[in-house]
Amino acid sequence: MDEKNSAGIDRRTVLKTAGAAGLMLAAGSAGAVAAPPRKRYAVVGVGSRARMFTNAMTGKFRDTSEVVAICDKNAGRLARAVKLVTETGASQPRGYAASDFERMIREAKPQFVIVTTPDASHDDYIVRALEAGCDVITEKPMTTTAEKAQRIIDAVKRTGRQVRVTFNYRYSPPRTQIKELLMSGEIGDVISVDFTWLLNTVHGADYFRRWHSNKAMSGGLMVHKSTHHFDLVNWWLGAQPETVHAFGSRQFYTPETARRMGLSGPHERCLTCPEKQKCNFYFDLASDPGLKALYLDNERYDGYYRDQCVWRPEINIEDTMNVMVRYDNGAHLNYALSAYDAWEGYHIAFNGTKGRIEHRIVESGGAAGAAKVQSGSEAVSIRVIPLRGQPRDIEPIIGKGSHGGGDDVMLTEIFGDGPADKYKRASDERAGAWSALVGVAANKCFETGQTVRIADLVAGLTPPDRAPMPDRRAPVPMPIRIKIP
Ligand SMILES: NC(=O)c1ccc[n+]([C@@H]2O[C@H](COP(=O)([O-])OP(=O)(O)OC[C@H]3O[C@@H](n4cnc5c(N)ncnc54)[C@H](O)[C@@H]3O)[C@@H](O)[C@H]2O)c1
Repeated sequence: MDEKNSAGIDRRTVLKTAGAAGLMLAAGSAGAVAAPPRKRYAVVGVGSRARMFTNAMTGKFRDTSEVVAICDKNAGRLARAVKLVTETGASQPRGYAASDFERMIREAKPQFVIVTTPDASHDDYIVRALEAGCDVITEKPMTTTAEKAQRIIDAVKRTGRQVRVTFNYRYSPPRTQIKELLMSGEIGDVISVDFTWLLNTVHGADYFRRWHSNKAMSGGLMVHKSTHHFDLVNWWLGAQPETVHAFGSRQFYTPETARRMGLSGPHERCLTCPEKQKCNFYFDLASDPGLKALYLDNERYDGYYRDQCVWRPEINIEDTMNVMVRYDNGAHLNYALSAYDAWEGYHIAFNGTKGRIEHRIVESGGAAGAAKVQSGSEAVSIRVIPLRGQPRDIEPIIGKGSHGGGDDVMLTEIFGDGPADKYKRASDERAGAWSALVGVAANKCFETGQTVRIADLVAGLTPPDRAPMPDRRAPVPMPIRIKIP
């Protein structure tokens, strides 16, 4: 087949250069134009993730952005966050207790509130910030239940203000490259997707130590973690999930597994564990200065333990999940997530009318605690297999930095001043809801065994702005003739 376009550039080069120039720079670079007035941000929930935002605003984007206030229910973490921002040379932000959230907005007058509290409290801060006249940037998942999603959808309509959900996974260059391939019509229109995400016994186990292990706080991994994955599929396909069926159970992180591994049973936490020598899931919170300063030193304010036993009987999230989704354009998704795997990362396959794309990222190698290998191209693969044609490997574009390079590109789009993004990676409350609701629906299936329609969960949810995808009614080329049989 003709691999050259009218400009004489082969298709592989187009994909590669479009990727390099377009995927990584589509969000633009900060600082090239005259400095606009600084935007005023308040941050609520200053734990681990908030640092990405405060570091950006006090570092690369300090000319455009200012942290004017910080709010947290833990007085120790609050004071530490104020100190860390001030130590960068930025003006000292005002610190507020969680109960003073509205007073914070009245006094500090932020234009934006960044919400980085645990998942189940997002809706409360999102709605209160919108009502107080601010726009909101919230971490994923936007929320954890259908009722909370409805509150946010209604509040956006009522106030006319904006919510942005920070789906950083979309911005990771190879994932944007997949979007480019799908948009280009390389495999026609996608009819089915097979997606498996693996979490290993280091990172995967960590969800069972923290607040994430309480479904009321995180929505379980179906919401907390899979919201990223469902959002990717929604965005990649440019379609809305319609119907969900799922199975879920907890089979690995259980008291029984602890006993089968030779322990006497679960305990409260690693710090005081009588079997810390025997348990190779032992997590030493005191040995890491950053984690110690953030969590251990501040336990006295709220009693939160960051190192709870992964075998505790009261854990109520699943570690083994299988989901089927039918989309409004007819596409089917087959998705699996497990949290005790031999390696960490994912593989996905898209089956289209003209062929198949297979894509894989190994985020962390087989050995527990093995160094991240995501930065190496050997860990990322993209293969196009035309119907009845020769498979072709596409050189992946490798990002740098956290979350496969996605965080940096996204931060530039949020705090910088880039051109319009042809991939439409910025997500509002509609994308936040469409992805979280797949997880909510799956959770409902786990309980009832019944198929769930997303339309039965919320009212007034419309499709988000999507990049144009191949026309599902357009002519499809007849594949080449082969001898059958
Ligand atoms: N996009 C990503 O890749 C990514 C990565 C990590 C975390 N996250 C998200 O970021 C959010 C925060 O996660 P984290 O890992 O930083 O958690 P964390 O436990 O480290 O921090 C949460 C902070 O919120 C505070 N807090 C708890 N309840 C509060 C309340 N009601 N009011 C005010 N403050 C409250 C805690 O004291 C703590 O300081 C979560 O929604 C998580 O899903 C996203």
